[in-house]
Amino acid sequence: MAVAPKSDTLCFVLNGREVVIEDAPELSLLDLLRDHLGITSPKDGCQPLGQCGCCTVLVDGKPRLSCTMKASLAAGKEVTTLEGLSDETRRQIAECFVQAGGVQCGFCIPGIAVRAHALIEKNACPTRDEIAGELRAHLCRCTGYTKIIDAVESLGKARRGEPCRPATVASTNEKTGSVGTRLARYGGADCVLGEHPYIDDIAIPGSLHAAMRFSDHPRALIKRIDTTAAESLDGVIRVITAKDVPGERHVGLIINDWPIFVAEGEETRCVGDILAAVAAVDERTARRAADLIAVDYEVRTPISSPEEGLQPDAPKIHPGGNLLSRSALVRGDADAAFANSAHVVEGVWQTQRIEHMYLEPEACIAMPVELDADDRAPAHGWRETAAYWSERCKEHGNGNGRPRTQSLAGLHLLSQGQGIFDDRRQCCSVLGWPKERMHVELVTNGGAFGGKEDMSIQAQTALLAYLTGRPVKTVLNRKESLRLHPKRHPVKSHLKLGCDSEGRITALRARIIGDKGAYASVGAKVLERAAGHAAGPYRIPNVDIEALAVYTNNPPCGAMRGFGANQSAFAVEGALDMLAEKVGIDGWEIRSRNILEVGDRFCTGQPLLKPFGLRKTLEAVKDAYRGAKYAGIACGIKNVGIGNGLPEAGRGTITVEPSGRLTIRTGFTEMGQGLFTVLIQTAVTETGLPADRFDVLADTTHAIDCGQTTGSRGTVLGAYGVQLAARKLKADLDAGRKLSDLAGRVYEGEWVCYKTDKFGADVPDPKTHLTYGFATQVVILDDEGRVKKIVAAHDVGRAMNPTLLEGQIEGSLHMGLGYALTEDFPCEDGRPLYEDVKSCGVLRAHHMPELEIILVEEPDPETPYGARGVGEIGLVPTAPAVAGALYAYDRIRRTTLPMKDSPAAKAILGPKHTKQP
Ligand code: FES
Ligand code: FES
Repeated sequence: MAVAPKSDTLCFVLNGREVVIEDAPELSLLDLLRDHLGITSPKDGCQPLGQCGCCTVLVDGKPRLSCTMKASLAAGKEVTTLEGLSDETRRQIAECFVQAGGVQCGFCIPGIAVRAHALIEKNACPTRDEIAGELRAHLCRCTGYTKIIDAVESLGKARRGEPCRPATVASTNEKTGSVGTRLARYGGADCVLGEHPYIDDIAIPGSLHAAMRFSDHPRALIKRIDTTAAESLDGVIRVITAKDVPGERHVGLIINDWPIFVAEGEETRCVGDILAAVAAVDERTARRAADLIAVDYEVRTPISSPEEGLQPDAPKIHPGGNLLSRSALVRGDADAAFANSAHVVEGVWQTQRIEHMYLEPEACIAMPVELDADDRAPAHGWRETAAYWSERCKEHGNGNGRPRTQSLAGLHLLSQGQGIFDDRRQCCSVLGWPKERMHVELVTNGGAFGGKEDMSIQAQTALLAYLTGRPVKTVLNRKESLRLHPKRHPVKSHLKLGCDSEGRITALRARIIGDKGAYASVGAKVLERAAGHAAGPYRIPNVDIEALAVYTNNPPCGAMRGFGANQSAFAVEGALDMLAEKVGIDGWEIRSRNILEVGDRFCTGQPLLKPFGLRKTLEAVKDAYRGAKYAGIACGIKNVGIGNGLPEAGRGTITVEPSGRLTIRTGFTEMGQGLFTVLIQTAVTETGLPADRFDVLADTTHAIDCGQTTGSRGTVLGAYGVQLAARKLKADLDAGRKLSDLAGRVYEGEWVCYKTDKFGADVPDPKTHLTYGFATQVVILDDEGRVKKIVAAHDVGRAMNPTLLEGQIEGSLHMGLGYALTEDFPCEDGRPLYEDVKSCGVLRAHHMPELEIILVEEPDPETPYGARGVGEIGLVPTAPAVAGALYAYDRIRRTTLPMKDSPAAKAILGPKHTKQP
């Protein structure tokens, strides 16, 4: 029933109930719903751009992007969100998405679910193409869309009264939830229905909102920062700059070279530099105040390429110079081998900078807390701390204008980062605190892909909370997110590859240079990994490799899914295709003659003595490759774990709660990859207890620091810790003790592999990595040169959860295809040219080809259940396989990404977007 609008008020029907707002503020419908009406299922992924679909709601029954619609336009209309659908409809939607595996991080899904519901209401039997077309307003960065389309098909079936479970989710012992079953994603239904609270969905009583003042120039001397106007704005509580940092101002995962504020008298290094932060009573005021901060600059010419950075007269971006790292490896005698080779090819392969484009931008909440008797921040969950603040506000008001109280000497930080212990270490160093004064809790995030390893705004938020004595929330908008966080390294690889007359590779020379951007992040390791993977998964007796990471004034580059292996795969696979042509054999055959077998050495010199299934993956795609008119093929290898001289650790605990429930704790981050589900499956397998008895948390309650959730290590190392803890619990249960007897017990599990060898270590049989993932992929084009199908065969060791595994690989293929054809993040003179979502070129559902996933299981004897991590390898072979397929189609050898000039890209982007970066 529609409501007639009144002249000075806004009236509409929200989820079946009349809403009347006097003096309605000028807002988007999304902000009105989220900030004033407590409706949090529509998410803000890009407001006000209207480019991600996360905010979709129904207006008079039709899907609308609520971020682009003025709230006033809702007058007299019916607005429906997921909260307003019937219980049965909600159950159906949640079940279809969860059973199909159509939810990973979940941030995009509520918007998609609303649209799916509207589609099925008007057409209960849509084709897959119709579903994909309907989803064109939406982005999903995690799933590759296949399982989302499965879910929507299922929803149609459910509405038609047919069984809605897709055939792919069949397992005999699925109910037990043990390892190997397709246990439903932990918390999946909450994510689908928009009930999982991401950080921006959490409202802490008495909270302030923060905004950052970014640099206007990539390289400029900061002569003066004037905060006077900002401080005098009504509603501003505090403005802070470098002068307010009590402890260490620079942070970093490996090298502390990244200032949380650039100070007066210093030079900025990129446009993502933060100069000041504001805490105010609301977000709007904080942003207005940030804009009022006046900065006096002396603008200087930025260094915009690594080659410029290496010039002898180049200004030094950091005191130690612009060369961050050199990773070198020599085995055998490459020159002699080239001289004796039957064929030698040489070329330069250039990859581009790209954006992670996780759908949830960076967000953080810091809440002051009272320390306990041991001067520790209490290990509460956020709901408990929120309740504390609710009581406090009732007693004292919200505290506007009052100085902080001495009793609030600790902090509870809600982070969405990929390493909560690293977040705590860095934030405490900024505050000058012992780590015990801060409790960090992960709020499982809306995607990360490596981009949330470095701190973003955690330290500034923590400092504001401490200095104001109030909870503080910071949420970046999309433009700020693009500006701030590290990207994938653009890498130039000059490669020379030789082989004998039979096509057996004799030697490789690689000279690799990566644009590090402004800060170290993990860039030295990314380029080290590029060097270590320069030979791909091939047996090459003579290698001469050098990789440089060079600072520039471009946005920092850091970790991103694949971590240097993608860039190197594009080069070496391309060179291998060139050699195959010279020898007169096809792409499958040359790979068959050269792939690593048990007993061979990986590029780093590590002997591969454990069984692995690379050949099985190659055999699995042979017919697809040879049976297609236009096909490209590429193999991939990706290290699992950090390795290269660092010990690997897996730690976890299981707590028996008084309620009889069991809480698993891990130091690793759930970011949509399904880690928490796999940890439950591990505990179920070891204890025999049912899956629905377990909860999973990541926080700093116990000493379970395992480092970053990176390098495809979460499953292998996280499962190690939980497996060992679960075995201790099982021993007590086997001894006849009941769970009720064990209430309060904490079972700890720790596995540490103390030995990995440094990259390039001069030792006889270096072990640079704990294990590896392997894959072969085939990309098939149609007669118009469009990508028709990708066949991806992966050795996963052990399929811990086939649905989640397929989802990881499908999502990787989506990312890999975008990397190959459409995605980039170009900069000019240090300034990113893109400030929005759409320009970055992430593929949408209707752009995706058919995906066929083949899981090969060759268990690794050293890992839990034989699993290999698959988080990253899914896209390592994709771009070179696309390049190979395009060459088969038009005989153009493409060596620069993205291949926007190709017919495959033009079919997606249209003919005008063909310029190479
Ligand atoms: Fe509305 Fe992205 S938040 S489309
Ligand atoms: Fe779609 Fe993560 S599940 S963005």
